[in-house]
Amino acid sequence: MCGIVGCFAQKGCYEKLYSALTRLEYRGYDSAGIATLSEGGAFSVRKKRGGVAAIAGAPLIGCAGIGHTRWATHGVPSDVNAHPHLCGKFALVHNGVVENDAALRAELSAQGERFLSQTDSELIVHLIARAYAGDFFAAVSAACARIEGSYAVAVLCADHPDTIVCARRGCPLVAGAGGGALYVCSDIPALCGSAAYICPAEEGEFVVIRAGEIGFFRADGTPVPGKVFARVRGAARPRAVVAKTRMEAEIAEVPAALAGTLASLQEADLSACRAPFRAARRVLSVGCGTAYHATLAFCGLLASQGVPALCRPASEAADLAAGEGELLVAVSQSGETADTLAAARAARARGAFLLAVTNVEQSSLAALADAALFLRAGPEVAVAATKSYNCQLLCLYFVAARLLASRGAPQVWEQSLAALPALARRAFGSFSAVEQLAAAWQGARGMYFLGRGQDAVTAREGALKVKEIAYIFAEGLPAGELKHGPLALVEKGFPVALVCTARALVRKCAAAAAEVAARGGQVALFSQYAEALAIPAAFHIRLPAAPEPLMPALAAIPLQHLACRLALLRGHDPDRPRNLAKSVTVE
Ligand code: G6P
Repeated sequence: MCGIVGCFAQKGCYEKLYSALTRLEYRGYDSAGIATLSEGGAFSVRKKRGGVAAIAGAPLIGCAGIGHTRWATHGVPSDVNAHPHLCGKFALVHNGVVENDAALRAELSAQGERFLSQTDSELIVHLIARAYAGDFFAAVSAACARIEGSYAVAVLCADHPDTIVCARRGCPLVAGAGGGALYVCSDIPALCGSAAYICPAEEGEFVVIRAGEIGFFRADGTPVPGKVFARVRGAARPRAVVAKTRMEAEIAEVPAALAGTLASLQEADLSACRAPFRAARRVLSVGCGTAYHATLAFCGLLASQGVPALCRPASEAADLAAGEGELLVAVSQSGETADTLAAARAARARGAFLLAVTNVEQSSLAALADAALFLRAGPEVAVAATKSYNCQLLCLYFVAARLLASRGAPQVWEQSLAALPALARRAFGSFSAVEQLAAAWQGARGMYFLGRGQDAVTAREGALKVKEIAYIFAEGLPAGELKHGPLALVEKGFPVALVCTARALVRKCAAAAAEVAARGGQVALFSQYAEALAIPAAFHIRLPAAPEPLMPALAAIPLQHLACRLALLRGHDPDRPRNLAKSVTVE
């Protein structure tokens, strides 16, 4: 969803901006751009359609600069629509959506303004230029006051070559310092390795870099007191893994990421949750995409133990009406997904206790929550979530175990959480069989992923991965639903992945496999049980064995690998799936 960065550095400003953009690319990669401002007040701009590599070239001159990676919302990806946008003495980069775009465009056009791009972002720089009467900050603040919707902006002004003015509402923005530079950026991971200290801007705050200093302000220009810069944690880049793509590397990191999660999970992190764990009338949970699938597994586990538990995709959480006396567990790798934040804010405003499960400590979700558990999975960069899913599940198993224990129902499987990293490594043993499967299915036009109970959740996650990066239509279904409609599509060679990790359900899975085989469909069976693997099927993929409630964290691994192999075999870059972005900061 677009990444923005601003940098002030006496030396190497352009290089620092470019390097931050390469780390922000997961937020959008359909166009990129940089503008720098010389001491004499002259702009140098390079912006192009394509990834960050498209703007590689000789350094642009100047100590102050702004950069952008785009994920198009208003206007097609093109050189003209790429940011920065310029108007008069100003250059601007923007992440977010201007919802009153049409009204503002009509108003400004009537006043004689002419626009070069189709973007909503260009309107903002025109608003700033019109509001300017010598006070840079006041002009940005006045323009922001006119915007309905969301924004994080960084702005340069030719009259103030040592200054960058930035603002946020509804989109993340973090300030950073280190290595002789001052930064503002959409995301902390993009500053890892450059900034030693960071401080997130809160909703509605402005960040101003001026003459080598950085400060936080309210819209009226008064300073925000009490802002503290913290040392960057988790700054280490992911371990070097022999992998061609980031997604392969991140799948290879699953065991280490789980070990990181495990090492950091502390009972103390949940001390604030004691009362809601014991007494909450309902446990509710929200997330989007893969994180939503983690909430399905979590609520399924609690419900199986008699705890009233419900989850929703965060964009559909209104009917949950989470409120007083209830616990809302919001799950988000980035902690910045707009739908998840909106659901969390609404629940908190109605009095629900908010527990955040996220990978990013300084994220908006963590800041909003009453308590937070951190995945500590290390940076996840590939757009399709992999290791964060396994780690979300581990965190949620921990939450479920503590919650159930506090309600007098301790779970024996809690002892087995410590074994998950080693078991995840054993899941890699299935990869050669998965590669044969991918080779057989690479030409498929559609496929089903089936499972019963919690395996239906794994099936949905497997299907989502295949859609996201291999561009094959895939549906994840409860296996029992097959005979109520979906079977109509099964014909000779139709691929069906069947996940079976519950011993009690082996016979029912055998029935589903038989229904598929009878129509000529091709079944691939994923299980840890010999009796399930004895079900006639074209492919058998053996999973490592763990207590059944923990199997979703392991069964996802070969499915992640399957999607990645299918993408590569079909010639797609799994790290940059079309039409998607890693962090979706608009509702
Ligand atoms: C996007 C990504 C998904 C991710 C979802 C939720 O749609 O493409 O991979 O699962 O956002 O992201 P979050 O950061 O909230 O977990």
